[in-house]
Amino acid sequence: MRENTPLEEARQGEALLLEQSASSLGKKLYIESYGCQMNFSDSEIVASILSGAGYETTRNMEEADLVLLNTCSIRDKAEQTVRKRIATFHKVKEQRPDLKIGVLGCMAERVKSKLLDEEKLVDMVVGPDAYRDLPNLVQEIEDGRKAVNVILSKEETYDDVHPVRLGGNGVTAFISITRGCDNMCTFCVVPFTRGRERSRNPQTIVQEAIELWEQGYKEITLLGQNVDSYLWYGGGLKKDFEKASDIAKASAVHFGDLLRRVAQAVPGMRIRFSTSNPQDMSDDVLHAIAAHKNICDYIHLPVQSGSSRVLELMNRGHNREAYFGLIDRIKRIIPGCGISHDMISGFPTETEEDHQDTLSLMEYVKYDFGYMFYYSERPNTYAARKLEDDIPLEVKKRRLAEIIDLQQKHSLIRNQAKIGNTYEVLVEGTSKRSDLELFGRTTHNTVVVFPREHYKPGDFVHVTINECTAATLKGVAVEG
Ligand code: SAH
Ligand code: F3S
Repeated sequence: MRENTPLEEARQGEALLLEQSASSLGKKLYIESYGCQMNFSDSEIVASILSGAGYETTRNMEEADLVLLNTCSIRDKAEQTVRKRIATFHKVKEQRPDLKIGVLGCMAERVKSKLLDEEKLVDMVVGPDAYRDLPNLVQEIEDGRKAVNVILSKEETYDDVHPVRLGGNGVTAFISITRGCDNMCTFCVVPFTRGRERSRNPQTIVQEAIELWEQGYKEITLLGQNVDSYLWYGGGLKKDFEKASDIAKASAVHFGDLLRRVAQAVPGMRIRFSTSNPQDMSDDVLHAIAAHKNICDYIHLPVQSGSSRVLELMNRGHNREAYFGLIDRIKRIIPGCGISHDMISGFPTETEEDHQDTLSLMEYVKYDFGYMFYYSERPNTYAARKLEDDIPLEVKKRRLAEIIDLQQKHSLIRNQAKIGNTYEVLVEGTSKRSDLELFGRTTHNTVVVFPREHYKPGDFVHVTINECTAATLKGVAVEG
């Protein structure tokens, strides 16, 4: 896996902190976000909603009146990280008994009010669809009561909320386009914590993109659990589309249409999107990417396993061959397209042969990079209810290590092939290793480090690549 920007670390779902912050009349809010990009984006919505209630964000937890942890449930380890973090507040609360602590996000939704019993320090539990209720809930805890709202919604997309851009680099920003997921992959807790799938009004998406451009942002990432499934037909759940009127159906906006609209509205801005799911990705989307220079040639396409038998048990809606077909079409329609993946080792019943299928699928695709995990059983999922978690931990870990090793090899091959070429790089900031160097990404989402010279974050710079690791390209800027 290549060097991660903070945003990408977020995708990995591990120990992911973004220290941010929002004050009732001079009150201060401190938010930490864990997990996926959607949580980081949601924290910006939360900051906006609470700013309306007089809370101002702070990056300094010491001065906060309210601490919110926006949590992740995707793997057990993600929840353990949050529980350990909550435990660290014992000491803080002894010194500052008035400090309030709220748990937001997927763990709030999954554990619900039980979290108040299990974690006595917590004052408030709020699920991902209940953030508009935060001003009332915060009032309750300010009055000394505990507060819970974990109601999931059929409509909520926060489409009129102007996110407070927290702790970003001023160059790249997220725009959420769908909420929830209907796919019901058998290992995944997200459909339970984020509810049914619904799409946001495209006009508000385009408007947010234009506003970001006017504020000087240069790249947006359209976010959803399953962006390819985006479908606007006037509002409502995706599953109710069939019941919509003929007029609504005929004028429906699909993901390819949305991409084209955004690309045309902000032609100087780079557009990315995440996450695609193979079973929902259409050729129309591939053609939209190919037709617009400002839509990045990069697709994050989780596959989870290379075995058709395991894919079926996972309810992924496609087999190995169909995935290869999609990869071939991507490579044909968008030559050179960067492709990354998510992979899970040790799903219930996975044999050595299935694992070899995963490795051979990786050999076929030769991904640019990937996010790789071993299976973690999540309560209430189909897999937890119907399948025994029968692969021993050491086997899961050994298979994962083999997957990671192979990915390292492929990332290196992919990067080496770029040596000698010149790429347009959008500069995001100063390199972690040296103040004299900047880093940014190519259209393919590969990190490039190069000497700073007179360049600055937000510049588009042409960089000729002269060396690399599996994680990073290094080069020098050239004119033009
Ligand atoms: N569609 C979502 C997926 C979120 S989960 C998105 O926007 O990316 C991110 C990744 O975590 C999944 O693709 C999968 O590889 C991994 N994952 C999900 N549930 C898991 C589980 N129970 N055990 C291990 N990894 C899991
Ligand atoms: Fe989870 Fe599958 Fe949706 S991985 S978020 S149920 S596409």
